[in-house]
Amino acid sequence: MGRSFILVLVTSLLLMLIGVCQGSKVGVCYGRNADDLPTPDKAVQLIRNHNIKYVRIYDSNIQVLKAFANSGIELVIGIPNSDLLPFSQFQSNADTWLRNNILPYYPATKITYITVGAEATEVPNNVSAMVVPAMQNVFTALRKAGLHKKIKVSTTHSLGVLSRSYPPSAGAFNSSYAFFLRPLLEFLAENQSPFMVDTYPYYAYRDSSSNVSLDYALFESSSEVIDPNTGLLYTNMFDAQIDAIYFALMALNFRTIKIMVTETGWPSKGSPKETAATADNAQTYNTNLIRHVINDTGTPAKPGQELDVYIFSLFNENRKPGLESERNWGLFFPDQTSVYNLDFTGRGTVDITTGANITSSNETWCVAASNASDADLQNALDWACGSGNVDCSAIQPSQPCFEPDNLVSHASYAFNSYYQQNGATDIACSFGGNGLRTNKNPSYDNCIYATVGSRKTAASNATAASASKSASSVGKVSIHVPGCLLMGFLSILLTVVIS
Ligand SMILES: *[C@@H]1O[C@H](CO)[C@@H](O)[C@H](O)[C@H]1NC(C)=O
Ligand SMILES: *[C@@H]1O[C@H](CO)[C@@H](O)[C@H](O)[C@H]1NC(C)=O
Ligand SMILES: *[C@@H]1O[C@H](CO)[C@@H](O)[C@H](O)[C@H]1NC(C)=O
Ligand SMILES: *[C@@H]1O[C@H](CO)[C@@H](O)[C@H](O)[C@H]1NC(C)=O
Ligand SMILES: *[C@@H]1O[C@H](CO)[C@@H](O)[C@H](O)[C@H]1NC(C)=O
Ligand SMILES: *[C@@H]1O[C@H](CO)[C@@H](O)[C@H](O)[C@H]1NC(C)=O
Ligand SMILES: *[C@@H]1O[C@H](CO)[C@@H](O)[C@H](O)[C@H]1NC(C)=O
Ligand SMILES: *[C@@H]1O[C@H](CO)[C@@H](O)[C@H](O)[C@H]1NC(C)=O
Repeated sequence: MGRSFILVLVTSLLLMLIGVCQGSKVGVCYGRNADDLPTPDKAVQLIRNHNIKYVRIYDSNIQVLKAFANSGIELVIGIPNSDLLPFSQFQSNADTWLRNNILPYYPATKITYITVGAEATEVPNNVSAMVVPAMQNVFTALRKAGLHKKIKVSTTHSLGVLSRSYPPSAGAFNSSYAFFLRPLLEFLAENQSPFMVDTYPYYAYRDSSSNVSLDYALFESSSEVIDPNTGLLYTNMFDAQIDAIYFALMALNFRTIKIMVTETGWPSKGSPKETAATADNAQTYNTNLIRHVINDTGTPAKPGQELDVYIFSLFNENRKPGLESERNWGLFFPDQTSVYNLDFTGRGTVDITTGANITSSNETWCVAASNASDADLQNALDWACGSGNVDCSAIQPSQPCFEPDNLVSHASYAFNSYYQQNGATDIACSFGGNGLRTNKNPSYDNCIYATVGSRKTAASNATAASASKSASSVGKVSIHVPGCLLMGFLSILLTVVIS
């Protein structure tokens, strides 16, 4: 028994190490319904520059698959609804697709999930009837190639699969979809695939703003909503929507299926009636979302549960029909500039070199004005890094503020350093009319913009910044260990009891 105990202990530790306990992931959806987007190669470069490690695409476009080769980025790929028929009809169609469209690019391109159809219940012509047969054929093709454990098969849903989502504990699937959901859920449970859902507190707020507070939708609420059946307290709508699905799954006795959020987000612009569609709200929603999931907070019904989320979307997509907001879900404009800043590490705007709480103070920063000419910016940049006495090492190649490698970004960094070193006065941000004061912290990733209080920059303390980055990722792992250890101990206990 002693020996088997040690064996199990070692096995559990190994399982932990090989990533059973990785923690929640934050990815981005890379939709391409636009005619002005950068090439896939450039998009992948942008994704890498922003430290995004997980991406969802909606098809298996070969140019896109190739662009992700050897990037280390994990990819969710998709089979569009319009292609479901052949996949559902014949096994050989799925086999051929896998052999010709996927295997030549795998594993250089790291594919981890295949979504077979998307939000099928929202589509006319009873498309959902084809989903499970197509999933089964794709799964069988993967199994024949020995990949069914590495690449998971599922399909995405809109929240419209629920007939009831409030209160969360009353969450229930619409019985009209039972014919489709029952075999689907059995498939997911059997193959340990996640239930994928696209969830949009934005729409819930927009369509029912009299009953839903904006703060609640944006994770900013100071009050709580109580689920009268369970007594669970909800401080945001996202959690309530996710729990409604957990409860709907439990009501059908599917208790082991995990949820994965394949789309969520907030538009930065909308028609005049869509007053909540602003860049500020979009930044708030996505920043709070990342902070909420990144440390495995879980939801009130499933505290500590990992939850992977994919933010919709990478780019604004100009060919999407519908209201103005439809074309403005992007984190980036097609020219690759940010619509607003977003920190994918979930550290938000807390200055990691000082631990100071920048958001809650009234500090200001100085950045390059967007209407400045290149020549003026170059002159001002040269001046700041020369006579201006600014330490510009952080914007040199391979340093934290080199990417994005453009004049506006480099000048912004230098302008701000000068501004902070010189009393943060109006004058110190003039740069001949090319500087612009802002109270939004422009820091991103490891590129920390100085503040008056800190007087520290990524340049003057680059090692501290990277050290605290690795420290924070170590911290992240150790946060997950308790959950993993629990699993490990449970399996030890089980084995000991059995033996
Ligand atoms: C859709 O197809 C399924 C399976 O073929 C069938 O049971 C169901 O009644 C159909 N639903 C509609 C609305 O046609
Ligand atoms: C359930 O789905 C059917 C078919 O789409 C729809 O007509 C019905 O309104 C839905 N019921 C609820 C309560 O949402
Ligand atoms: C708000 O809630 C009330 C009562 O629950 C309901 O009757 C009303 O239709 C809701 N309004 C909106 C816009 O959803
Ligand atoms: C995760 O973050 C939330 C919000 O910042 C915090 O309340 C919670 O205690 C954190 N959980 C862990 C396990 O660190
Ligand atoms: C940062 O601000 C938040 C909200 O104002 C506060 O709860 C938190 O304690 C602050 N953290 C630090 C490190 O000052
Ligand atoms: C900025 O903060 C300081 C100290 O908290 C305060 O005295 C000052 O009034 C604030 N200024 C503005 C414009 O809010
Ligand atoms: C940029 O626009 C602002 C007003 O928005 C103006 O004050 C400033 O002079 C302009 N700068 C340049 C270089 O055109
Ligand atoms: C860099 O940061 C570390 C850790 O915060 C600190 O101990 C060190 O003094 C800093 N070095 C400089 C040059 O500011």
